[in-house]
Amino acid sequence: MTKILLTLHVLAAIVAVGPVTVAASMFPPAARNAHAAAAEGPADLGTVRLLHRICRVYATMGLAVPVFGFATAAVMGVLDSGWLTASIALTAAAAGVLVAFVLPRQGELLESLGASKALERSDTVQLAMFTGVFNLLWATVTILMIVRPGSTTGA
Ligand code: HEM
Repeated sequence: MTKILLTLHVLAAIVAVGPVTVAASMFPPAARNAHAAAAEGPADLGTVRLLHRICRVYATMGLAVPVFGFATAAVMGVLDSGWLTASIALTAAAAGVLVAFVLPRQGELLESLGASKALERSDTVQLAMFTGVFNLLWATVTILMIVRPGSTTGA
C-alpha cells in the first residue's frame, strides 16, 4: 500500500509540478516577446495564453501531490517527523506563492497584452522573480523528501 501511494505521490509531482515549472518559467519571456511583436501588428497571444492555461490546469492537478503525500505519511506513520513538517510548510508556501502571486500576475499581464497596454519590463521581471521563488521552494521540498534529515527509516 505504501509503495502504491508513494508511487502516486511522486508521479503526481512529476506530471503536475513539472509542467507548471516549465510553463511558468517560459511565461515572462513569452510575454515580453508577444509585447515586442505587438509593436508590428496585432498581438498574437496564443503562446502566452497556453502557458497560463498549463499553469492553472496543472496547478490544480498538483493538489494530488500533498493529498498522496499525506496518505503516504499516514500509512508510514511519519506524520510527526521534523523533515515532513518542514516539507509541509514549504509546500504550503510554494502553493501560496503560485496562487497569490504567479497566477494572478500572469492573468494581469495577459489582460494588459490583450488591451495593448504598455508593458513595463519590471512587470515581467517581478513575475520571473516570484516564479523563481516558487521553483526554489518546491525543489527544496524534493530534496527534503529524498534526504529526510533526521530520519532513521530507509536510506
Ligand atoms: C504536504 C506535502 C507533502 C507530504 C505530506 C509529502 C509526503 C511524503 C512522504 C511521506 C514520502 C515518503 C518518504 C519516505 O520514503 O520515507 C514522500 C516522498 C517523496 N516526495 Fe513528498 N510530500 C509532500 C510534498 C511533496 C512535493 C511538493 C514534492 C515535489 C514536488 C514531493 C516529492 C517527493 C519525492 C520525489 C519523494 C520520493 C523520495 C524518495 O523516496 O527518495 N513531495 N513524500
